[in-house]
Amino acid sequence: MKKLIEEIVARCSALINGCSSSQKLDDVRVRFLGKNGEFTGILRGMKDVPPAEKPIIGKLINEARASLENFLKAKESELAKAELERRLASEKIDITLSNDTEIGSVHPLTLVKNEIVDIFIGLGFSVQDGPEIETDFFNFQALGIPLDHPARDMQDSLYVSEKLLLRTQTSTMQARTMLSTKPPIRIVCPGKVYRADDDASHSPLFNQVEGLVVDKNVSLSQLKGTLEMFAQRFFGKETKVRFRPSYFPFTEPSVEVDCTCSVCGGKGCRLCKGTGWIEVLGAGVVNPVVFENCGIDPKVYSGYAFGFGVDRMAMIKYGIPDIRLLYENDVRFLKQYK
Ligand code: PHE
Repeated sequence: MKKLIEEIVARCSALINGCSSSQKLDDVRVRFLGKNGEFTGILRGMKDVPPAEKPIIGKLINEARASLENFLKAKESELAKAELERRLASEKIDITLSNDTEIGSVHPLTLVKNEIVDIFIGLGFSVQDGPEIETDFFNFQALGIPLDHPARDMQDSLYVSEKLLLRTQTSTMQARTMLSTKPPIRIVCPGKVYRADDDASHSPLFNQVEGLVVDKNVSLSQLKGTLEMFAQRFFGKETKVRFRPSYFPFTEPSVEVDCTCSVCGGKGCRLCKGTGWIEVLGAGVVNPVVFENCGIDPKVYSGYAFGFGVDRMAMIKYGIPDIRLLYENDVRFLKQYK
């Protein structure tokens, strides 16, 4: 009996050792330890063992069975591990392959527009939007530029029909807002504008941000304070602002606003053409004519307005030499402004 047990254990162990899959291992388990397995057969033979030997043989059988079960378990986990490794190897994903899908970046004009608008929101302004195809009335007449006014020449306009044109300035939003909203008004209006212009510093399509404040006792000095605060946030703390007299039909007095050059800090360099100053925007005190055109009493209310070229701000901020670079959509150029 003892020999038989040893023989079965040896045979079973050899078979377990040779198993290459868990399926085959299962077959071996059934063949030896299953209901009708060889090992179970031996247990049945116990009835013919003399009573004196029964405890010894019984112990042998139990030990043999336990060791075969342990061996099966060990082999099983060995096979499972091997199978997992095989699967990991065959299902491996090359994550470097997906590298050719690039994530886009925000256009530098959008970056600068958002920055400008954010600063004004911080100063208590709200944001307004308006149409790009505009009536002659809002683009010119309401702003004190009648049909025969020479100031029309300064803005080489693109007409859609006799009375409709692509707006040449976001100042259209001044009259639109004053006609639809009661003072106090404190708005900025970012948007596209169009002119029949095309060279290194003029694009037929460009971007402006208009600002308008209407309230009681609004003054030119408040305009200067607001723009100074803006310039210091946009260009840096040391920035100074100066006003030069200018002319716009819808503001009186009108000013051209310069900032100290953000590159040389005012000492004079290539960007500021040696002057230390950079012209940044047009502004002024709202002309009473505009108030009258919009049904606001100029004896009660006063206001100021300003208009930035967003493209110009971006060119100054990033040292971009040609406005057309902003519209060619060359990815190598755009990628730099993340
Ligand atoms: N609309 C003017 C321009 O395009 C700028 C401006 C806006 C001037 C508001 C004064 C007040 O040149």
